[in-house]
Amino acid sequence: MSKETTFAPTFSLQEAQKALENHIKNLNTKGKPKDLYAPIEYIMSLGGKRMRPLLVLLGYSLYDSEWKNAVAPAIVTEVFHNFTLLHDDIMDNAPIRRGQPTAHEKWDENTALLSGDLMLIKTYQWFLEAVPSDKFTSILQLFNTCAIGVCEGQQFDMEFESRNDVEIEEYLEMIKLKTAVLLGFSLELGAILGGAKPSEAAQLREVGILAGIGFQLHDDILDVYADPKTFGKRVGGDITENKKTYLMLTALELEKQAKGNELQNWIDKTDFDETEKVKAVTELYNNLNIRTLTEEKMNEYFEKSYQILENLSVRHDKQKQFLKQFLMQIQERQK
Ligand code: IPE
Ligand code: IPE
Ligand code: MG
Ligand code: MG
Ligand code: MG
Repeated sequence: MSKETTFAPTFSLQEAQKALENHIKNLNTKGKPKDLYAPIEYIMSLGGKRMRPLLVLLGYSLYDSEWKNAVAPAIVTEVFHNFTLLHDDIMDNAPIRRGQPTAHEKWDENTALLSGDLMLIKTYQWFLEAVPSDKFTSILQLFNTCAIGVCEGQQFDMEFESRNDVEIEEYLEMIKLKTAVLLGFSLELGAILGGAKPSEAAQLREVGILAGIGFQLHDDILDVYADPKTFGKRVGGDITENKKTYLMLTALELEKQAKGNELQNWIDKTDFDETEKVKAVTELYNNLNIRTLTEEKMNEYFEKSYQILENLSVRHDKQKQFLKQFLMQIQERQK
């Protein structure tokens, strides 16, 4: 009997989420000095969508139905993601994360930095424990490429704050690096652990990268337009920090065409009231229809991602629909 006929259709996302939360609860994040370890437990326990480990499980289930085997390595992608958040929140002067004070606010910047460093080391330690030894080297190489990309993307993101000539193409490359490569790696990791050929796993990485670019475009939209009551982050933070998001760059381009300078003036101001700036820039965006233009770009990337997925031949074809549905939820999310 072929494996396909014995394959139980799908697990539910709730079931997977439960298994992930359970595993996170049992991670050994305690140690001394207390304040080195406490921010790790803090950030990991604040929740979040757990999108990256879910992608690992979904990637795995395209090839093997024993998805629980991939829970431990999947969690490691979440640990790495949370490490990047500790450092990102310092870099972005972010006061809240997942509805709670950011680690550098609750403790201080040095503590959040060092806990973040430790989390990165834990990523390697836990990969070593969770990944079968015959796959470890190739997975580590892929992970390193991804992690280097994230650092490069984050530095571009910072440099763009003070540049006024950022091109849309540069922005797209920057978000591919800072955000999308980790989504790509997560799907690829799942596929490799499930037994995919390297060429198939690389295709799945592409699916994740394209959806990841769409995901970051969406994140940039939500930074301006999300409901502050449920968003869990400071709304308008990107505007305050002069982040060169797709929204900002498109608005600048349209303003330039109309020979205006209001947005550029807000960018150039060093002394301003945050609320006033966010309100004024959001109004400019509204007048220029920026939200719709950004949504169109975001949808374009998700569509490209679905197209590659559809053309991909995997061992458990039915599971492709499950992955697509999950990506569509990400595309439509409100936080
Ligand atoms: C936030 O990621 C950082 C970005 C890459 C935009 P998420 O939106 O996945 O954050 P959580 O993990 O759900 O909180
Ligand atoms: C974050 O991008 C990317 C990484 C954490 C590597 P953002 O800075 O837009 O993420 P949020 O909005 O703070 O979650
Ligand atoms: Mg940030
Ligand atoms: Mg950032
Ligand atoms: Mg953001």
